[in-house]
Amino acid sequence: MESSAQLIGISVGPGDPELITVKALRVMRECDVLFAPQAKISDHSVAKGIVARFDIPEQRFRTITFAMDRSRESLRSRYQQVADQIIEEIEAGKKVGFLTLGDALTFSTWIYTLDAVRIKRPDLLIETIPGVTSYAALASQVQQPLGEQKERVLILPCPDDMENLRREIESHDLVVLMKIGHRFDALLDLIKSMGLEGRCVLGRKVGMDGGEVFEDLRSLPAIEKLGYFSTMLIRGE
Ligand SMILES: C[S@@+](CC[C@H](N)C(=O)[O-])C[C@H]1O[C@@H](n2cnc3c(N)ncnc32)[C@H](O)[C@@H]1O
Repeated sequence: MESSAQLIGISVGPGDPELITVKALRVMRECDVLFAPQAKISDHSVAKGIVARFDIPEQRFRTITFAMDRSRESLRSRYQQVADQIIEEIEAGKKVGFLTLGDALTFSTWIYTLDAVRIKRPDLLIETIPGVTSYAALASQVQQPLGEQKERVLILPCPDDMENLRREIESHDLVVLMKIGHRFDALLDLIKSMGLEGRCVLGRKVGMDGGEVFEDLRSLPAIEKLGYFSTMLIRGE
């Protein structure tokens, strides 16, 4: 059944095109216009790359760039500009999709875009199609649970303060750590000091070309720069 929504947040999964849902693929094909976010420092949109094999006509895509390190205020104004672009297409009678990596409502650009559009046009019919998160894909690759029975699971963008992170690890059974970036060295030091190297899984570019998964950090090769698409599963004692 065709979606009646005018704007749809479409989850494209963590990288492997086979992890796109049947619904996401159908809706993508129904959309007249597909917005695809791209990091300003990158030369391509990762989300658009994931759907490349589905032969969606190039002219339907609109790439929108975001600077990752912007202040909250400048990001807000960027999302307002994106909302204006989206609304313009909808007012021209187009059905609009917005591609997001992983799941659309998990730490994503879609969340802020959605808010900005809703403020300007609360009357629009909007839908979000859920997807496979990066950490679900990582857990599947090593076939480890993301939670069982009464376990306490925390999904956390990596904090700058490692003492804060230590407390979170100590008070949860599993910490899913996203957005590690430049904190990687400090994070490794913390994990070593807690004796948890054998209880951590690190995934880089999971499901993407060149993706790697390390099941035990004691055999981790030297990594100079971790890269943005990295997630760690940390099992406390
Ligand atoms: C802006 S968040 C996007 C999260 C995404 N919406 C999800 O559902 O997984 C970016 C963070 O997601 C994680 N991430 C996204 N894709 C990944 C992948 N293919 N492999 C490992 N981590 C990934 C990384 O922690 C990265 O810093």
